[in-house]
Amino acid sequence: MSAALDPSASEIERFRSAVRRRLGLNFDDGKLPFLAEVLRRRTEASGRASVPYLNDLEEGPGRRDELAALAGELTVGETYFFRHLEQFRALTEIALPARARARSNQRQLRMLSAGCASGEEAYTLAMIAREQPALVGYQISIRAVDVNPAAIKRATTGSYSTWALRETSDEMRARYFRPDGRQFLLDPELRAAVEDRIPVGRVAEPAEIADAVALLASGRLGYMTGHPLIVDGGMTAL
Ligand SMILES: C[S@@+](CC[C@H](N)C(=O)[O-])C[C@H]1O[C@@H](n2cnc3c(N)ncnc32)[C@H](O)[C@@H]1O
Repeated sequence: MSAALDPSASEIERFRSAVRRRLGLNFDDGKLPFLAEVLRRRTEASGRASVPYLNDLEEGPGRRDELAALAGELTVGETYFFRHLEQFRALTEIALPARARARSNQRQLRMLSAGCASGEEAYTLAMIAREQPALVGYQISIRAVDVNPAAIKRATTGSYSTWALRETSDEMRARYFRPDGRQFLLDPELRAAVEDRIPVGRVAEPAEIADAVALLASGRLGYMTGHPLIVDGGMTAL
């Protein structure tokens, strides 16, 4: 297979629009060299020139394997349990008690891990909801969504390395995991606490996002969609 030519500026622009429309990922001008490199790699891997590749991405049925490959190339999956501990402390000490008071009539609370990667954030939410005295007797729903199918697949296995648990206290580790060789298996009840009705999705889709508390792909709002994620009065941890 011959090496793909560098894409032109208009092809890179078409690629940026197609990625926004097909995957809900936004890239600003500073990321154009990165997009050019990904486009060059993907056209080379497909054995096609940029134009037919882009035509298919824009108009074609959108081969799922190509969209999955692009999601993997264009996103950053960095995550671990209790990542940015201060977020979870704020959630435990401020946001969840406040939302519990606001929802005391319904006794229901919805949480969203928007951009959950391999699931650590969503399962951390499940742990702190379970440990939260203000939520005893509440029906909790935790939704996780990610645009990258490979990350979601890892999330559904519930098997994690010690590296993923580096910020997890011994107490929480003992309560919610059991050792399995070199890995740690998540308590199946905790795994079941996170909904997987629509396991792969885009934050851009409104059906995914009406929720009381949302956590976002930390620090990477640039490539999220800017769509509202929470109900009035809800709280967002970034
Ligand atoms: C850096 S990870 C952060 C994971 C987790 N939220 C955390 O803070 O530990 C970002 C994740 O967000 C996902 N993502 C980014 N934009 C998204 C979008 N528009 N819709 C769904 N997932 C998105 C990526 O695929 C990636 O897995």
